[in-house]
Amino acid sequence: HRHLLGIKDLSPSDIELLLDRADDAVAISRQSEKKTSTLRGRTQINLFYEASTRTQSSFELAGKRLGADVMNMSVASSSVKKGETLIDTAMTLNAMRPDILVIRHASAGAAALLAQKVGCSVVNAGDGAHEHPTQALLDALTIRRAKGKIARLTVAICGDIGHSRVARSNILLLNALGARVRVVAPSTLLPAGISAMGVEVFNTMKEGLHGADVVMMLRLQRERMQGAFVPSVREYFRYYGLDAEKLKAARDDALVMHPGPMNRGVEIASEIADGPQSVIQEQVEMGVAVRMAVMEALLDPRRNPEGVAG
Ligand code: CP
Repeated sequence: HRHLLGIKDLSPSDIELLLDRADDAVAISRQSEKKTSTLRGRTQINLFYEASTRTQSSFELAGKRLGADVMNMSVASSSVKKGETLIDTAMTLNAMRPDILVIRHASAGAAALLAQKVGCSVVNAGDGAHEHPTQALLDALTIRRAKGKIARLTVAICGDIGHSRVARSNILLLNALGARVRVVAPSTLLPAGISAMGVEVFNTMKEGLHGADVVMMLRLQRERMQGAFVPSVREYFRYYGLDAEKLKAARDDALVMHPGPMNRGVEIASEIADGPQSVIQEQVEMGVAVRMAVMEALLDPRRNPEGVAG
């Protein structure tokens, strides 16, 4: 079975193929009749151990638009609450013969572990601070549609890089497609060895945003921080929150992105989130299209990019 566990498994041509397919899915999603029969008769199970608004709902809609039967496992009211393990839960669902299992989990490697155990395709919808591949694909689709290309664009990824699977998947994808990737954060929010990922590192927004084509803000993940370093919201916004003044350093036509959920007034000012350069709502729309493209590539043998595999 084919899986999508991380961007690291995809070649540049796999990525481009998925984005091309997603462009078609955008067109389908903009019609009044949105349903196709590509995955008719197939069963998709969404298994989300962490909260989600965008990812879970867009995977559900994507499956439905492809004609699949979609089941959302309600983890909060499941036997996980009685102590059932991830593997036992997955094996139980696997016995019901799904074709695709979409998993979000707080542990890095959870999706890869399931892929070894179940007899269906597995899609990683976010595993700890490791990868969130469909987020990076939808971000790339948003950029490509707005700018016409990814190669040679300067993309500044700003904020809580250390806790961010979104940052990690985006760095891998943007580098694969030839963008110039920067990360902008206080050193306390940068993971060790970040430079080895092929990014330029900046500690101030003014330097990091200078001349940028894309400014990608990240949520400050305070819930993942322990004791010692939890920045005060006021200080964080002052130095790293994206407001009109800081955005001036980027190109006038720079895109402003945020994967959501946003902390307004923490990492981004409301006037910027809702302003003319923001493509945050487009990102959400592209999320459905990219997930349609991914699931179609995994399950429809006529449309399999080579590298979409575990
Ligand atoms: N961007 C993202 O993954 O959002 P959710 O946590 O709401 O799914």
